[in-house]
Amino acid sequence: MRIGVSLPNNLLTKFDRIIEKRGYSSRSEGIRDSIRTYITYYEWMNDVKGRRVGTITLIYDHTKRGLSNALSEAQHDYIDIIKSSTHIHLDHDNCLEVIILDGEGADVKAVAERIMSLKGVKYVKLNTAPPGDKI
Ligand code: NI
Repeated sequence: MRIGVSLPNNLLTKFDRIIEKRGYSSRSEGIRDSIRTYITYYEWMNDVKGRRVGTITLIYDHTKRGLSNALSEAQHDYIDIIKSSTHIHLDHDNCLEVIILDGEGADVKAVAERIMSLKGVKYVKLNTAPPGDKI
């Protein structure tokens, strides 16, 4: 199937640079691979069940109106499973935060999804592990 997609110029430029470095034969192959990775990640996130320990790493623009408050509210709503967080100021606008969690997998995932849905959040990565189990 063929699809047409509109992308911001800088996103496409970055993408093209990466697929060139990685040696993809075409932009289409790079896009197919990206979609596969996206699906795998989404399915993995939905499979997070039982107790999980993990981290959410995020980068966001703190000058975005209301974002710092929204992030703070999200973390206060999950106070039972958020054990710690660290904040680093990256430059004038951007912040890096790492949140450490311990709780039900579904709740850990819910925190990550809530953060992902906020405008101005540029990067979110959830990592989880079952405590005590060999991975
Ligand atoms: Ni900051």
